[in-house]
This record gives sequence, structure tokens and C-alpha cells, in this order.
Amino acid sequence: MNRRELLRLGLSATALPLLAAGRIFPAAAQTHDHAGHTEHAGMAMSKPESGVPLLPADDFPAGKPLQPLTKLKNTGKTRGLFRATLTARARKIELVRGKPTTFLTYNGQIPGPQIVANEGDTVEIDFRNELDEPTTVHWHGLPVPPAHDGNPQDPVAPGERRLYRFTLPTGSAGTYWYHPHPHGLAAAQAYRGLAGTFIVRAKKDPLAHFPEQHWLFSDLRLAADGTIPGNTALDWMNGREGQFVLLNGQLRPRITLKGTQRVRIWNACNARYLLLTLPGHTFTVVGTDGGLLEKPAAPTETLLIVPGERYEVLITPHPEKRGGSKDATLLARPYNRQKMMQDFVPETLILAQVRLRPGKTRPAPAALRPLPNFDQPATRQEITFTEVMDHSAHGHLSAVKQSHNPADFLELLTVFRVNGKTYDMDRIDLKAEAGKVQDWTINNNSHMDHPFHIHGTQFIVIERVLGNHTERPAPALKDTLNLRPYEKVRIRFIQRDPGLRPLHCHILEHEALGMMAQLQVL
Ligand code: C2O
Ligand code: CU
Ligand code: CU
Repeated sequence: MNRRELLRLGLSATALPLLAAGRIFPAAAQTHDHAGHTEHAGMAMSKPESGVPLLPADDFPAGKPLQPLTKLKNTGKTRGLFRATLTARARKIELVRGKPTTFLTYNGQIPGPQIVANEGDTVEIDFRNELDEPTTVHWHGLPVPPAHDGNPQDPVAPGERRLYRFTLPTGSAGTYWYHPHPHGLAAAQAYRGLAGTFIVRAKKDPLAHFPEQHWLFSDLRLAADGTIPGNTALDWMNGREGQFVLLNGQLRPRITLKGTQRVRIWNACNARYLLLTLPGHTFTVVGTDGGLLEKPAAPTETLLIVPGERYEVLITPHPEKRGGSKDATLLARPYNRQKMMQDFVPETLILAQVRLRPGKTRPAPAALRPLPNFDQPATRQEITFTEVMDHSAHGHLSAVKQSHNPADFLELLTVFRVNGKTYDMDRIDLKAEAGKVQDWTINNNSHMDHPFHIHGTQFIVIERVLGNHTERPAPALKDTLNLRPYEKVRIRFIQRDPGLRPLHCHILEHEALGMMAQLQVL
């Protein structure tokens, strides 16, 4: 198929170079190569991971004590300066005996090292790209000036260095992370391992006296030989989910919680939704993506964390269990995010074994901090996520079910859109004035869940409308928010710095396929 034919099929500029480089649908192509495996056609639906034989789940070592995340050492010599070197490079790590896996790492570590800085600090990260392809470091959720935020327009070429420099303003204390954002390549670099956590501490933290734990969830798919296979067509359509959900890089670790704990939780999976529950216990949410709430939320038994989101919770072992330890299991309950062409299999995942030990029970303070009140919006905008809208495309997608020919999946590349368009890094989709309150309505006009994310700011949800149900949630600072099919959400925020701000679905495969737009802040 030549370039013109591809373009006739509506292939986006994003997808074309990727397809040429064999980056899109490598696994599907592989299956196609193994002619004769016709029974695969049906299996691919019930086993989305198929394409290559997978590592049996039992071969992966599990059940070790939870390791804390390693910190990135601050080599800054002056107060108020956080300085460090971060290097992206491939590294072989032997997680499975005799079957080393080549991961993409930050500083050779999986997960990447944790950055802990304070409000008011200037952060200088001397970044080196030792990968064999371009990458960037994006500071997810942080109010970083656009030129330092790892936008797709600012790739760091293989072998190159880049100094990322930004100052953390007062009020930015919260739970963030960093990951690659190169044009079209973020999904694959992320599922190969590139992600790290970033905590900004407040000068005055009302929860400073609580013992703290960090839970970073990531997703991993390993082939039988220990390698990380490429995406299948279904992965591109629905977002990739591996056979392993890791916690701080470990499979089903053993966690010990002593007394009341403050736990920061990250979902760094490309696409997996986590409906967390710790049966017999509750989570008290005290913070969201951009830091603490005004006051603790009512305790909840389940907590949905979608790709890109973070929460801070308090967990208190029940008082009647004082005096003795109690064991519990941290689970991800089934959540139906309405994948395309894949039947919902209600599956409960065991994420960790938890031992709750008696210890100091601390009540959450009644008030945590005031949040900004964004009134009098200056600009109103409408954002709409869509998938396939016309019937011919839908018929085409149904045909894909039966096929392993990559050419049959090409239509997918224009399926995921924002405001009717596939991402174009040279196009400005929206404009906003710096420092002025934005009031945006985000519509999910599709039948699948999509997590909306915007760079460089935190927003407050004003209302959510689903069918005839309207909800006005308590104020919380968010940069990533799930939208159910046909849900409509109104948010308010301010962009402080002029420049380009991407906004996209945080299912990274959808982002790569162009479910992304950009806001020009003037
Ligand atoms: Cu974490 Cu543009 O994303
Ligand atoms: Cu981001
Ligand atoms: Cu999406």
C-alpha cells in the first residue's frame, strides 16, 4: 500500500511515520506472518493479549515485602534548589529467572526514581536521552512553563541532553508524576517502563504527622520469553492491558499498615482502570491529583483510579481489631469501561496482601486547606471526545474482528478524535488567555470511557451530567478525570503561563492515535 492509498484511507499524519516504522500493530503483523493460525481469529477477542504466547502468571515472582520507591538524590547545593540528573536508557532486568526483560528506564530503575521537592523550590533536571529514539519528559499535573513541560514539539533526540527547569509555586503541593510525551511514541515508551513519581511537599502540611506510604500501579505484559511484546490492534483500540498489574514494580507484594496511614496512590497504567477495594476497611480520600481537599471525604469502600489519576487516602484499621493483626487483600474489582469489540469479563485482581497491625489511630483533621474559588469565567469552550461516528466506519470495524491483516486496522487511526479532529501538532485547536478563568464543558460523545487530561494546570469540577442525573462534587484539584460514555462535565481552571498546552485522553494508545488537541495560551 502506497502513501496515497494510506492517505485515502484517512490516515493521519501522526500515524503514517509510525506505520512505516512498523510501530503500529507489530503484534498483529506477527500473527499475520504465522499463516495457518486461523483459530487465532476468535481467540484474539477473548484473549486480547494474544498475538504472542504470554508468560504464565505463575512464572513471575510474587509476594515479597513492598519496597518503597527509590528517591532521586538532590545534588543541588543551595537551599530551594532541587537538582538531579535523569537518564532514559534501555536496561535488561531479570524479573523472571533466566528470562531478562529489556525495559526502558529512568536511571536504570523500574519504576523511575521518585522526586520529592518543596513548594517554592526551583527544580533543575539535567535530562539525557540514551534511548535510540526521541523522547521528552512531561511533568504530569505540575504548573510547569510549556517550554519545559516535555511537549511533543520539544523532542530530545537520541544522545542529546536537555535541562528542564521550573519553580514550584506555593499551593502546588500534591502527588504528581513524570513520563515521556514524544509525538506518537508515548504509549510504547510508557508500557516499556518509563514513568516516575513526583511529590511536592507543602510548607504547612496538616497531615505531616501521618506515616506515609506510596503505591504506584503500573501494567506489564510479558511474552513467554520475558520480552515485552508490541501492541495488538485491540490494544490500540481499547488501550493496552498486560497480564500483570505491578505495585511499585512488584507483583502482589506484602504490605504492612500500622495504625492510620496516609497513602498516595498513582495509576500509571496505559489503560487499566483500577477499582480499588480493601474488603473490611475503607479509604478516606483526603487529596486528589493536585493535592489536599478542603476537608476529608466520607469514607468509601471502593475507589476508582483511572490511568493518569492520583489519590491521597487515609486508611485506619478498624478499632475493634486493635490488639491483634488482621490480614486483608487489596483488590481491583471489575469495572466495565465499555471496550470496543471485546466482551466484558468481570475479573477481580489481587493487587497485594495487606497486614493491618495495631498502631496509633489518628483522626483526620476536620479542615485541610482552602481551595481556589474560580468564579466569573472569562471564556467558555466546548470539548467533545468522539469515536467512529458514521456507519461505514462502524461496519468496517466489525470486519476487523475477523481479520489479522494490519491493513484492515487502518481505519482505527482516525477513529479517536477531539472536536471532530485527529491530533495535528502544527494546529492550534483552542485559545485561552493566561490568568483568566476558563469554563469548559467536556462531552464524551462515545460509548467508551475516556480519561480527560490537560497539561499545566489543575481544574475544579463544577458539575457532572449523565443522562438526567446531575452531580456537583466537592471541590478538588484535578488534572485527569474519567468521563463515562455520554457524560458531560463542566470544569474551571486558570492557565498561568502563555504557550502550548496539550489536552488528551490518558488512555495512552488513544493519545497516540490522535485523541489529543492543543490549547494556545496567550
Ligand atoms: Cu500524563 Cu499529556 O500526559
Ligand atoms: Cu500531563
Ligand atoms: Cu480514550
